[in-house]
Amino acid sequence: METSSPIIRILIVDDEHHLVEAFGKKLSKEGMKVFTALNGRDAIAIMKQEDLDIGIFDIKLPDTDGIELLGRLREIQPAAEAIMLTGYGSVDTALRSMKLGAYDYLTKPCKLSELHAVILKAYEKKQLKETNIILKEHLQRVEAHDRFVGESREIKEVKRFISLVSASNVPVLVLGETGTGKELVARAIHDLSTRSVRPFVAINASCLQENILESELFGYRKGAFTGAQADKVGLLQIADKGTFFVDEVADMSPPIQAKLLRVLETSVFRKLGDTKEITVDVRFIFATNKSIEEEMEAGRFRKDLFYRLNTFIITVPPIRNRKDDISILAEYFMEKHGRGGRKKAISREAMDLLINYSWPGNVRELANVLERAVLISADRVEIVSGDLPRNMVQSPPALEKIEKHELGRDMLRLENMEKEHIERVLKLAGGNKSKAARLLGISRKKLYQTIEGES
Ligand SMILES: Nc1ncnc2c1ncn2[C@@H]1O[C@H](COP(=O)(O)OP(=O)(O)OP(=O)(O)O)[C@@H](O)[C@H]1O
Ligand SMILES: [Mg+2]
Repeated sequence: METSSPIIRILIVDDEHHLVEAFGKKLSKEGMKVFTALNGRDAIAIMKQEDLDIGIFDIKLPDTDGIELLGRLREIQPAAEAIMLTGYGSVDTALRSMKLGAYDYLTKPCKLSELHAVILKAYEKKQLKETNIILKEHLQRVEAHDRFVGESREIKEVKRFISLVSASNVPVLVLGETGTGKELVARAIHDLSTRSVRPFVAINASCLQENILESELFGYRKGAFTGAQADKVGLLQIADKGTFFVDEVADMSPPIQAKLLRVLETSVFRKLGDTKEITVDVRFIFATNKSIEEEMEAGRFRKDLFYRLNTFIITVPPIRNRKDDISILAEYFMEKHGRGGRKKAISREAMDLLINYSWPGNVRELANVLERAVLISADRVEIVSGDLPRNMVQSPPALEKIEKHELGRDMLRLENMEKEHIERVLKLAGGNKSKAARLLGISRKKLYQTIEGES
């Protein structure tokens, strides 16, 4: 991956060839890629051939004028920005060009430093515009995201937590195995909050190299490092008044976690290489599919960040522990994958296999298995067990096997699950036993008995 910002690509059009040459040379020295033309015809040929960030057009040209070129640029390369150069007396035209969408204008003779500064600003605007396009696409995708499906007691509890926290700005930590729907939880919190009209920005810390992650998050000033040619706006700034979702937070290096924690606590940060502080209003949601205890033990998840987050933890249970949801989710995905055609049924036998499988990949795996089954079943109106992956069909849950192991036997015991659940709720209630008992709908005595193993 590239660590430097891309090279700014410029087209300068002016009939004064000494000016074109001089500016061209100097801007190239600044590391920009410069194309030049002395007339409109050559300029349009370049627009059609080269990817451009910025066009710089003299208003008066031998065969056309700058306004015409501005129009052509917008047509041929809609994302590019234009800067107009005007001679004495054509300021009116320059103002008209701004109405038509030019970024700015400079009056000739202008200094290189002036032109350079305007180019950088225009470039930053172009980047922002692109980011906004990306965000808009992202938002559209968010709108089309999955409904949060599930009716099990566990999922109802998750939904209750979602609506509880969405009314506030508290940072949230979402835990759960891979594919359980942690990102969907984060989006649901955002969608239900007053921030829903602002961006939901999601990053996956495990997908980005450390230095790239840092410049993406915080942005940088021109010259902050080799290759930082122009200012860059960071994702935190883009998420202003919206929600910032950090997936796989334990894969983010501890120093960056510390920096994020500081933003969380003070709402201010600095771009790389900048002294000015930027204030943002961002709601943070973090997620990991790893064991928090292990990650903290190994020093990958900062304890101070965890303590800041542990007031609101939402744990999404794996689907093998909420079997009620498997058939509901299966029906939902049959509807979704059957789009356009008729919704297929699932045979009794196939459904039993789905319900009893261990689903290490959780909802994501279930969705994939069913999408594949819909394809394989071709014209048949019903999915049968033969349409499911072989490993699911061949290894029905062998009770004998589980019973042979002490751990397996333990897993089957209701009281063990009960104990685990009680401990989880007790933790959520901050160790307050009366409160936990109330939430669980049991007596304090029963709670004591269970956690202390008495009978
Ligand atoms: N309750 C649900 N209802 C409908 N769709 C769901 C549900 N839970 C998860 N999904 C879908 O399953 C897929 C995986 O969900 P998501 O990406 O939120 O999982 P995750 O927990 O973030 O996984 P990972 O740990 O791998 O990042 C997504 O396509 C999501 O829309
Ligand atoms: Mg995820």
